[in-house]
Amino acid sequence: MTADAVRVLQAVAAKNRHQFQFDERLAGGAAIDAEGAPVSDETLAACRRADAVLFGAAGGPRWDSGPQRPESGLLRLRKALGLYANLRPVKPYAALLNTSPLKPEKLQGVDLLVVRELTGGLYYGQPRGREARDGHTRVVDTLEYTDIEIRRIVTLAFRLAQPRRGMLTSVDKANVLESSRLWREVASAVGRDYPAVKLTHQLVDSCAMRLIQSPADFDVIVTENTFGDILTDEASVLSGSLGLLPSASLGATSLGLYEPIHGSAPDIAGKGIANPIGAILSAALLLRHSLKLEAEAQAIEQAVEAALNAGCRTADIAQKGEKVLGTREMADAVRARLL
Ligand code: IPM
Ligand code: MG
Repeated sequence: MTADAVRVLQAVAAKNRHQFQFDERLAGGAAIDAEGAPVSDETLAACRRADAVLFGAAGGPRWDSGPQRPESGLLRLRKALGLYANLRPVKPYAALLNTSPLKPEKLQGVDLLVVRELTGGLYYGQPRGREARDGHTRVVDTLEYTDIEIRRIVTLAFRLAQPRRGMLTSVDKANVLESSRLWREVASAVGRDYPAVKLTHQLVDSCAMRLIQSPADFDVIVTENTFGDILTDEASVLSGSLGLLPSASLGATSLGLYEPIHGSAPDIAGKGIANPIGAILSAALLLRHSLKLEAEAQAIEQAVEAALNAGCRTADIAQKGEKVLGTREMADAVRARLL
């Protein structure tokens, strides 16, 4: 579906007389096989040279037991490019309210944005590893944050909340974790600079419950890396399918990385049936955040909505008896509706 997202970008370029230059690189499992690393130095350099990176997906069972993990390539890109903020918007489409396992009335008014910290926490903390000790195996992961890392992500979340409904939920596990206590302290301190935004602290376990129980109550959620990873897969259920959701990974410059929040979906990979909308909407976020082409971004978003309103469905969002489109057909349906 990455190729299909690229075709949508090309259509947008043609319509608006832009020229986009694409430089295709391998990442993840395919790159391990072809280049010996999930993201090679050349690929990283190419990403640094680019204005934006459109990312597909990384893993697969074939590489699960190898010495190199495909996912580590993505983690390398995020870290090396300084992409500390991962934005994951969730807004169910009216046409798909019946697709979610949640009752449609629960989904009325749902419009939330998860701001996930992306370059800290358990994903990168040291020490980490595995060792033999006293005849057993001992493992360790470290949840590490500095106040600097917390402040920059929380500050961004306040800024993003301000022009929305002005509600920010900071999610932590401050009843147990030291890192969460600092997170809460810093969030409260930053909040004093944003009096127009109502800050609420919420424990991650109860947040997981409320996301399903009363999702419309949320506006912006800010949280650390692992909590954000888990809560956004959960939140995708609100939209009807994991295949619909895009994400933007941003840092201090306009260079960003854009990827659907779903992974490589090994069970359906290569069959041409995956939903391309997560990838296509990621391309829209790329236009918005890295290229500052807001009108073009909106053109893609409205084309997606129009295709869904017209009843276009891939397998993941089709109801019984509805016609099912393949990946390419769905992307074509979106392209045909670009204004
Ligand atoms: C995501 C994915 C990644 C993550 C994996 C593929 C490393 O689950 O972007 O949510 O955990 O960040
Ligand atoms: Mg994830």
